[in-house]
Amino acid sequence: MQTRLDEVLVLDFGGQYSQLIARRVRECGVFSELLPHTVSLEEVRARAPRGLILSGGPASVYSEGAPRLPRELLELGIPVLGICYGMQAMVLELGGRVEGAAIGEFGRSALKVREHGRLLAGTPDEQSCWMSHRDTVFEAPPGFVALASSSESPVAALEDPARGLYGIQFHPEVVHTPYGNAILKTFLEDICGCDMAWSPESVAERQIAEIREQVGAERVICGLSGGVDSSVAALLTHKAVGDQLTCVFVDHGLMRKNEGDQVVAAFRDTFHVPLVAVDAEDRFLRRLAGATEPERKRKIIGEEFIRVFEEQAAALGNPRFLVQGTLYSDVIESGGGHGAATIKSHHNVGGLPEDLGFELVEPLRMLFKDEVREVGAAIGLPERLVWRQPFPGPGLAIRVVGGEVTKERLELLRDADFVLQDEIRSAGLYRELWQSFCVLPADLRTVGVQGDERSYGYVVVIRAVTSDDAMTADWARLPYDLIERVASRMINEIPQVNRVVLDVTSKPPGTIEWE
Ligand code: XMP
Repeated sequence: MQTRLDEVLVLDFGGQYSQLIARRVRECGVFSELLPHTVSLEEVRARAPRGLILSGGPASVYSEGAPRLPRELLELGIPVLGICYGMQAMVLELGGRVEGAAIGEFGRSALKVREHGRLLAGTPDEQSCWMSHRDTVFEAPPGFVALASSSESPVAALEDPARGLYGIQFHPEVVHTPYGNAILKTFLEDICGCDMAWSPESVAERQIAEIREQVGAERVICGLSGGVDSSVAALLTHKAVGDQLTCVFVDHGLMRKNEGDQVVAAFRDTFHVPLVAVDAEDRFLRRLAGATEPERKRKIIGEEFIRVFEEQAAALGNPRFLVQGTLYSDVIESGGGHGAATIKSHHNVGGLPEDLGFELVEPLRMLFKDEVREVGAAIGLPERLVWRQPFPGPGLAIRVVGGEVTKERLELLRDADFVLQDEIRSAGLYRELWQSFCVLPADLRTVGVQGDERSYGYVVVIRAVTSDDAMTADWARLPYDLIERVASRMINEIPQVNRVVLDVTSKPPGTIEWE
């Protein structure tokens, strides 16, 4: 095994920013994982973290069933930083005074630092910070020094360096706390004594070593989709075990223009990864013939994809290992049992189920999406693949809406989508948008007039959204002149199109895709 990286654990008390804390810690250069606050003491000990961070949470420390903080966690001999609820729970446990304030404190607050102590060292006497709480600490527990206050928080920061215990009422992880990162860094570097070695390069190195160890001399297969997750996972695996890996790229004929070629060019020609590209357009279109209902299309595509993949695996002598681009957010979601799961269940369409009989290689299991991009860039993945917007597994089939998916309609949609992407990239907006794409109502024609003649053509819908995680999304305010250029190019360049409209629905109430 290689040497372990220093780790700081974030215990999740249910706060909306808990994931963000772990991300910020990693941005500071320290590996961090989010664990439920119910984690056992043995597990924490076994992981031997350099420090603990207790997150915020929605409960009042006095409400029934409010999560308790086991005293033993504070006596492990490693530094602990409580944030918001985490601080209140610590204070309550150690004999300080926490009370429900008449007035809550939500949003920006002015922090007055009386004493900087270790935690606030190097930050100004007056600074702004982001608060979100109703209960507040009125008195620090014995042995602690109160460091700072705000208008509604008599004790907004405290510490007991001898015992390694620290607390802040405000949220250092949000951008509205300008010295938040500095405070986290002080905790990690000066207080916990972490080696700040977590970086995209170190992650890549570590994952490559781990893959090598897991796979040994066995063969590995990877379903490459062209998305950033499977691309990074595949490339890491190739760096680890070279030609023991074969990638399978299933072109179902539902990709965007030139997309298949770009994937093949990058992997086969640039990285020399053994790659089987399967042209499965005909069989997918044949199976999709007559299907108009969204879930039916998804089911057909999902099944067919698995069938094609299994055939390829068999042709390769059924390798023992399968590379999957599972991300840390998927891991947290499935382990944590948070509500999002049901809305997302259909989103695995175009992926592979877990019970195909392979052993899984999941080099991205510990990474957030933006970290996957950084790792991708660090190992030389082309920018086009690193920054590709998400694209659904069932591809353009769920963007030919309300009717049958035919080759002609897909072709038209591909051409329209190409124009949109081209203009959005030229305007420098591609990365700012979560997704931008076109939708083609399958059976809708409208009347127009072109060159003094009546036309009866297709309508193309422009859909562009901003989002952080696809759970919610806002329609993007694209510049009017950009929309105008897109519309006129589509109508001029694609003879069957005579009308272009813009979707101004956010999510909720809409979803990002139309089907
Ligand atoms: P919705 O349309 O539910 O989509 O707002 C949220 C995100 O998921 C993508 N999406 C899918 N991805 N298979 C996938 O792999 C699917 O069946 C599927 N449906 C939607 C969508 O593009 C967006 O990023």
